[in-house]
Amino acid sequence: MKLAVVGTGYVGLVTGTCFAETGNQVTCIDIDARKVEKMKSGIIPIYEPGLEELFLRNSAEGRLQFTTSLAEGIEGAEVIFLALPTPPGEDGSADLKYILGVAKDLGPLLKHYAVVIDKSTVPVGTAEKVREAIAANATVDFDVISNPEFLREGVAVEDFMKPDRVVIGTSSDKARAMMNKLYAPLVRQGNPIIFMDERSAEMTKYAANAFLAVKITFMNEIANLCERVGANVDDIRRGIGTDSRIGKRFLFAGIGYGGSCFPKDVQALHKTSEDYAYDFAILKSVMTVNEDQKTKLIPHVESYFGGDLKGKTIAVWGLAFKPYTDDIREAPALYNIRELLARGASVKAYDPEAMENVANLSDIGPKVTFTKDAYSALVDADALMIMTEWPQFRTPEFEKIETRLKNKVIFDGRNVYELDDMRERGYTYISVGREK
Ligand code: UGA
Repeated sequence: MKLAVVGTGYVGLVTGTCFAETGNQVTCIDIDARKVEKMKSGIIPIYEPGLEELFLRNSAEGRLQFTTSLAEGIEGAEVIFLALPTPPGEDGSADLKYILGVAKDLGPLLKHYAVVIDKSTVPVGTAEKVREAIAANATVDFDVISNPEFLREGVAVEDFMKPDRVVIGTSSDKARAMMNKLYAPLVRQGNPIIFMDERSAEMTKYAANAFLAVKITFMNEIANLCERVGANVDDIRRGIGTDSRIGKRFLFAGIGYGGSCFPKDVQALHKTSEDYAYDFAILKSVMTVNEDQKTKLIPHVESYFGGDLKGKTIAVWGLAFKPYTDDIREAPALYNIRELLARGASVKAYDPEAMENVANLSDIGPKVTFTKDAYSALVDADALMIMTEWPQFRTPEFEKIETRLKNKVIFDGRNVYELDDMRERGYTYISVGREK
């Protein structure tokens, strides 16, 4: 099929590249001319494991093309994906200006029937608004459908190619048949395409992310209580995760969820509930608890140093909001670095992928010392904080830590070490939900 993808962020680029890989002819459209030039010359603008290989191969074989022109990009396209940003507006609701702007431009450019797909996470009722915006100037028949994306950064290619399910919201038989054809290669293992009305599809995406945010937050609260009653959250996780009704995944306590999706989507769903005069109480708690959770280790660091961090140097391992990404949006590490700097501490940081992004932040970038590897961050540092569970931090050479770090003290926001092991090694080791 011939496809167009408008917007080359994470979702757009993964969608375009993966559908090129399954044999479609794909044109990706972006207004950022520099980005488009880079992509044309084979430079992928995001770090995502496994994506570059597909990006290069499909570009080289001519199935994946790039342009800044909407008119050129959608020429002949049977399917047009809208994968545009929906940043939170001041009141927390998703801002639709990018999506509706493109929809308005699309109307006069459509020359034949096409299915226009909302791939971005958009509030209930957006498909209707997109339809109206296109229809205002369209001369041909078209459908607007909702097809939310459930991929995770860091495993995006795998999630896209082998989705647990594909959700399609439409009442059009023609669009439905085209979606069955387009997604057939991705659902060969029997994973379902679930058809529903478009409002339910839009809501499904928010419900999925909000549910996962609730799940994580619930465990974070259990962890906080474990610390008070003297229980171990890792044992609780194993104890409840084996119940198939609960499931093993997304039960890891830590310093809160971050990223571009959970915080934004929980806020947006809460705003939707307010718009419909519904008090979605659990979402309010999730937002508050997660905010507090991010910096919960700071008081421990402070008290270890007798209440004063002035003149102390803290090594920080991990800046990205999770491993296998360079994404630092809403990353707990940033909140912690801000708190440390505000208390007069210096910060030496290492992350395998995200250092450049933090260096570019005007408020903290110039104040943080970035090091070439994890151990260099420990030289002359008074303590180590672990903020992201990159695998290389899991089994470090402890001798190297000990010869560099001034004190044997680790504040671990991701529970990467075993308590007994750290006790045997003689560390002061503060983690989440495992201390009395
Ligand atoms: C999330 C969803 O998992 C995807 O299904 C969805 O498509 C995506 O948002 C989106 O809406 O685009 P993502 O933000 O890439 O994906 O990252 P996750 O792997 O879900 O992690 C989110 C945050 O939760 C991270 O900060 C992670 O550290 C935290 N987390 C995750 C925990 O604290 N504990 C866990 O057990 C799992």
